Amino acid sequence: MANHPAQSAPFGSILAGQMAVAEYHHGAWGAFDVRPVAPLSLSPAAHVLHYGSTCFEGMKAFRHADGSMQIFRMDLHIKRLRQSARSLVLPVPDAAQLRDMLLAAVDQNRAEAPDAPGALYLRPMLIGTTPNIGAAATPSTSAMLVVLCSPVWDYFAGGAKPLRIYVEEHATRCAGHLGMVKTGGNYAAALGPTLAARNDYGADQVLFCPGGEVQETGAANFLLIREGHILTRSLDPSFLHGVTRDSLLQMAPDLGYQVEERVFTVDEMLDWVKTGEAALSGTAAVLSGVGTLVRNGHEIRVGDGGIGPNTQRLRAALVALQQGLTPDTRGWFTRV
Ligand SMILES: Cc1ncc(COP(=O)(O)O)c(C=O)c1O
Repeated sequence: MANHPAQSAPFGSILAGQMAVAEYHHGAWGAFDVRPVAPLSLSPAAHVLHYGSTCFEGMKAFRHADGSMQIFRMDLHIKRLRQSARSLVLPVPDAAQLRDMLLAAVDQNRAEAPDAPGALYLRPMLIGTTPNIGAAATPSTSAMLVVLCSPVWDYFAGGAKPLRIYVEEHATRCAGHLGMVKTGGNYAAALGPTLAARNDYGADQVLFCPGGEVQETGAANFLLIREGHILTRSLDPSFLHGVTRDSLLQMAPDLGYQVEERVFTVDEMLDWVKTGEAALSGTAAVLSGVGTLVRNGHEIRVGDGGIGPNTQRLRAALVALQQGLTPDTRGWFTRV
């Protein structure tokens, strides 16, 4: 599809025309419907507007050569949203219903999905709607679940640019127990440090390393890569358990990489990047190479400052799989 509008629009700025909506009242989810995207009706006292009871997901559906739309790792994203809801004491979406909502949303917006390397980005969001401004210590007993779709393009299509990352060793991205929860407040908390790093150092992203331990950036996981070896932080509640991270780590052994998951420090990272590579993984970022780290105002070049060959190789393998150019041997797609 030549010149799809998503090609020139910022990621997520275009919404496809239809959304799926379900509401939770009196202890049960009602039936969902698919309707044209329009403003939601919400009490100004809604729990989410005061106490931040919200979580969301982000996944992609790709158009394959046979014309079908294929949602990548939908079940893992559904599981993560349910886990986020539980952590925030929000009504937990019914897995089967959310699955049906995602399938219906993709089906109804099919005509607006770009061909590869574009995709339809799917954004389920869950909000607490109970009208009560005195509910700081009381969970929302009603909720709304909405699935939005956004035609997006590949970040790399215009030519890959190595990222510039600010190493933050003091500020935390979010409360320690909420790192693995995909909730709006975490992004609000990361915004100030991210904008400061952009203004002060021209950084694209902040790599949060509280106490000198490498964690993740504001919107992607962090991997150290070199020939035959990937090092990334082991899973704990302090950061988001990325689906892209998991996918890459599962694919890595077949591509000849040994995977090491453990805590590592900023000093160890700086040692690694003298010759090795660094990259960010995420649904939007795919696998984006890091060219420069900025620490305490000093620039540190990662490898030769470009996107390393192993980062390119791993990214190419993931993209080929997502676009249906290599076989899906792990059952990661749901066909629509
Ligand atoms: C904070 C954070 N970490 C990591 C990721 C990567 O997760 P995933 O690969 O599931 O998109 C994201 C993006 O969703 C994110 O917002």
